[in-house]
Amino acid sequence: MIGRLNHVAIAVPDLEAASAQYRDILGATVRPPQQEPDHGVTVVFIELPNTKIELLHPLGEDSPIAAFLAKNPSGGMHHICYEVDDIIVARDKLVSSGARVLGGGEPKIGAHGKPVLFLHPKDFNGTLIELEQV
Ligand code: CO
Repeated sequence: MIGRLNHVAIAVPDLEAASAQYRDILGATVRPPQQEPDHGVTVVFIELPNTKIELLHPLGEDSPIAAFLAKNPSGGMHHICYEVDDIIVARDKLVSSGARVLGGGEPKIGAHGKPVLFLHPKDFNGTLIELEQV
């Protein structure tokens, strides 16, 4: 059911410093910051030959990333994103097998303009999983 690894997301306390590190030290292609008010994040995409890294920084009052950074002050891996062909088919299959979909179960439009869902980390080995329909 799942396809390519679309991205790995890392929560960072200093978006500019993290962007500079990927650009100047790791030599990656780093895109400009993008604000995603619906998700409470500012995102910087880093393009690698085989996938993307998504640097996440809190935006607004009750950003989920603020809580994550409170627990992990130096930052950390936040989620991984797998591609699926049909997000509704994927969701229904997961729900029927007992997995919990976060936030009511309806897809939202994600940072790439495509429908996304998040799966409860306790159901997936402690890893927050994002599904993106491509
Ligand atoms: Co993501």
